[in-house]
Amino acid sequence: MKERNKIKDLLQATQVDVDVHIKGWVRTKRGNKNIAFININDGSTIKNIQVVAEMASFDESLMKKITTGACVAVTGRLVESLGKGQTVEIQAHKIELYGEADPEKYPLQKKGHSLEFLREIAHLRFRTNTFGAVFRIRHALAYAIHKYFDEHGFVYLHTPIITGSDAEGAGEMFRVTTLDVNNPPRKDDGTIDFHEDFFGKETKLTVSGQLEAELGAMSLSEVYTFGPTFRAENSNTPRHLAEFWMIEPEMAFYDIHDNMDLAEDFVKYLVRYALENNADDLAFLQKMYDEDLIDRLRFILENTFVRATYTEAVTILEKSGQKFEFPVQWGADLQAEHERYLVEKHYKKPVILTDYPKNIKAFYMKQNDDGKTVRAMDVLFPRIGEIIGGSQREEDYQKLNVRIKELNLPEKDLWWYLETRKFGTAPHSGFGLGFERLVLFVTGMANIRDVIPFPRTPKNAEF
Ligand code: 4AD
Ligand code: MG
Repeated sequence: MKERNKIKDLLQATQVDVDVHIKGWVRTKRGNKNIAFININDGSTIKNIQVVAEMASFDESLMKKITTGACVAVTGRLVESLGKGQTVEIQAHKIELYGEADPEKYPLQKKGHSLEFLREIAHLRFRTNTFGAVFRIRHALAYAIHKYFDEHGFVYLHTPIITGSDAEGAGEMFRVTTLDVNNPPRKDDGTIDFHEDFFGKETKLTVSGQLEAELGAMSLSEVYTFGPTFRAENSNTPRHLAEFWMIEPEMAFYDIHDNMDLAEDFVKYLVRYALENNADDLAFLQKMYDEDLIDRLRFILENTFVRATYTEAVTILEKSGQKFEFPVQWGADLQAEHERYLVEKHYKKPVILTDYPKNIKAFYMKQNDDGKTVRAMDVLFPRIGEIIGGSQREEDYQKLNVRIKELNLPEKDLWWYLETRKFGTAPHSGFGLGFERLVLFVTGMANIRDVIPFPRTPKNAEF
């Protein structure tokens, strides 16, 4: 294969008057009967490179087919550009057409489509500036996550996607089965006989890799998972997906304060990484969608996260005089509107709330001595609300066992989890960062469906 130059490298090139070879998709073409200016993008950067073609040197029928969306390879000379808007351009010597895009039919022929429309053509929306920027930032954040943990001595653990246990106990799981749904085998009492299913038991798609990560932390000390998780909750909001990616660090010997310190340091590192490595893409998104974007990212870096208890937060909300859609009451879960009020209006800083009522949190959280609250921690961000949920874990076998019984959780599915508390138990903590909530925050996009390539939401799994 002929060596291909990436457009990003050419735009930063210090040497001109060299032969180059690029491949990419036509974003725009303009010109007259003598000359054509073709803007080409190859995804390496938000910026296009301008190709200048003397019409006389090329076949007329070829030039006609070079329209927005077409894919081409161009060989030519990199020269200083005399035109405005770019420092270099390519004088084309040879143009090869890989794929045309009929202007009558290509859905992205014109600019300025709504994000809603682009969701309906998710297979093509990668070709817009917006989604190029979003997915380059998504990539950078994924890379930074692994980099951070590697630098801090964490072991990346792959936890299973198919599982028999409901880690969060919320009963919002998708079933995994090879049984014939029209005619499943039944037991004498009429219930479905899962012994005949593929795994010989009922299985679901995981809602969290935490329980398995805890097993790893009880030997490797610091581990993390980064994988897909699934929730069959019927939440049609701009912040919920049925399939999302979660990062879950789990650390032996960390108490809740160590856990909060890690969460704060970790998300600041990620935001800083994007600011330092995705400047062009962020500048574009700021210009197009969100004029406060970069200030909001700096706001995360420049502030120490406030730490307060759930009970303190409820008092603040009750005294706020604000009208909320959902009432505030000690014992009820906080809604995004409450979380955002605390961050954006009251504290004007990112907030970590701790010590939530045990009845609104999962069974595994460490119980406080008051008998009412658990050592939970939620990290709250502007615009997003909850971006991280975590806790110190209950390491006491008796207390954990009692809680599992109180909540009527199926002990037969959790025996292995309980055994870690029998053998060499240790204080430990962890949290889960919703990857798409992070990407949503960093890109300034308004809807979580626009930060994952192919969103799964209720009634939507087309692509
Ligand atoms: O608060 P959650 O449910 O916590 C857990 O799953 C724990 N097992 C994490 C842990 O301690 N290891 O979810 C964690 C984060 C939330 O803070 C949110 O950012 C994200 O996952 N999240 C979702 N993101 C998109 N769509 C959904 N339906 C989400 N549900 C949770
Ligand atoms: Mg949560």
